[in-house]
Amino acid sequence: MLKDKQISNEKTLKQYYIKTFGCQMNVYDSHRIAAILETLGFSPAISVKNADLVIFNTCHIREKAAEKVFSDLGRLNLIKEERAQEGQDTIIGVVGCVVQAEDEQIAKRAPFVDFALGPLTYHRLPQVLAQISKKRGIPLIDTEFPAESKFDFLPENTSMGGCSFLAIQEGCNNFCTYCVVPYTRGIETSRPVEDIIKEAKKLVAEGSVEINLLGQNVNSYHGEDKNGKERNLAYLLRRLNEIEGLERLRYTTSYPADVDDDLIACHRDLKKLMPYLHLPVQSGSDKILKAMNRRHTRGQYLEVVEKLKEANPELGFSSDFIVGFPGETDEDFEQTLDLVRQVSFIQAFSFKYSRRAGTPAALMPNQVEEKIKKERLIILQDLLFSYQLKFNKESVGKIMPVLFDIKGRHKGELIGRTPWMQNVHAELGKEYCNKIVNIKMIDATVNSLSGVKEGK
Ligand code: 5AD
Ligand code: SF4
Repeated sequence: MLKDKQISNEKTLKQYYIKTFGCQMNVYDSHRIAAILETLGFSPAISVKNADLVIFNTCHIREKAAEKVFSDLGRLNLIKEERAQEGQDTIIGVVGCVVQAEDEQIAKRAPFVDFALGPLTYHRLPQVLAQISKKRGIPLIDTEFPAESKFDFLPENTSMGGCSFLAIQEGCNNFCTYCVVPYTRGIETSRPVEDIIKEAKKLVAEGSVEINLLGQNVNSYHGEDKNGKERNLAYLLRRLNEIEGLERLRYTTSYPADVDDDLIACHRDLKKLMPYLHLPVQSGSDKILKAMNRRHTRGQYLEVVEKLKEANPELGFSSDFIVGFPGETDEDFEQTLDLVRQVSFIQAFSFKYSRRAGTPAALMPNQVEEKIKKERLIILQDLLFSYQLKFNKESVGKIMPVLFDIKGRHKGELIGRTPWMQNVHAELGKEYCNKIVNIKMIDATVNSLSGVKEGK
């Protein structure tokens, strides 16, 4: 019973540590989970060894990501045992997509875990923590797809500094045949327009100059306005563009088939909308796109890219690619390389196909050998990096507005991002943190630029 009291007593200085795996949505969720814990009287621990409560926010997208969670949990259990020898108790929680997908398996594979919550139920954390001492020894697992929206139960979102995430949509109805997201994050739901506007204004008042709208399929946003009318992402962007003090808007991740003319026009009209778009294509082969159940062909993807470039010639594209999808031949892979050459992506993420239980592609014939997947990934990444390096090199000598929000490893160094999401290192005083500064670029590598402040 003592434990219940300690957890619910706002004044006890219990410390928490959250480890985040996976995508930006998980980074955002961890930020929201931290806020819940702070309202319960927890404070952040400097390291996992100091934490009374450790939460892993997990990713299930590829096998490697999911397995890493279990191996890291094993290591965490050793720390829990060491702390126990010193008379300290440690509560271990797992949240996120691994929980949704593995469900009761968590209890089998990591019985020392105290609780597990899916990505749609972490707002129930206070009740769960209060129940833990009673249930100790049996993990408390909640993987319901709840009727309520977690957003209505979370403490208000707070600024993450100069640049904040704001989730506007969650889930996906696309059911690409390789992907677990529709099963882990559920079907698409959109938050109401006014809730988003209010949250954005609050983030700006707290110092955010950039807001990145998040969702698994963000451009199929269809939230209700105050009259109950469904509005699209373009409407939302236009409304957000009017917020005074907000300088930069981004959105991620979008689905090519859902880029409509309204959204394209935003890239022409809205100055605050950054000239960078993450638009995953996955493959350049129509045969593979069809097998992936993507709702677009190679030609349609290229057409959308062309229209967007017409709307804003400065626009740079980034993408996700999967190599070695079942049935992918050398010719299919060549089509992917060819598409990369056509679009000259300025950044990209590429992965070997990972067979996920429960998805249709896992059962498809003609699974590609690991050795071939590896070879293709190297070839693709070499090509992608060459375009990324070219783009970065072309930035040298230019003056660009950079939003700095991270301290660098070296003393007096800040790290920020250009409008095209390039990382920039510069020697700058901390008064420039969370500010946009004009920087003259002096050097470039494949992953970053370095520069100096222009003018006084
Ligand atoms: N194997 C490999 N990559 C995958 N992705 C999603 N599912 C898989 C899988 N089973 C990639 C896609 C997606 C990105 C977030 O992860 O490229 O866009
Ligand atoms: Fe997964 Fe994206 Fe396809 Fe949705 S659109 S199923 S999140 S890859």
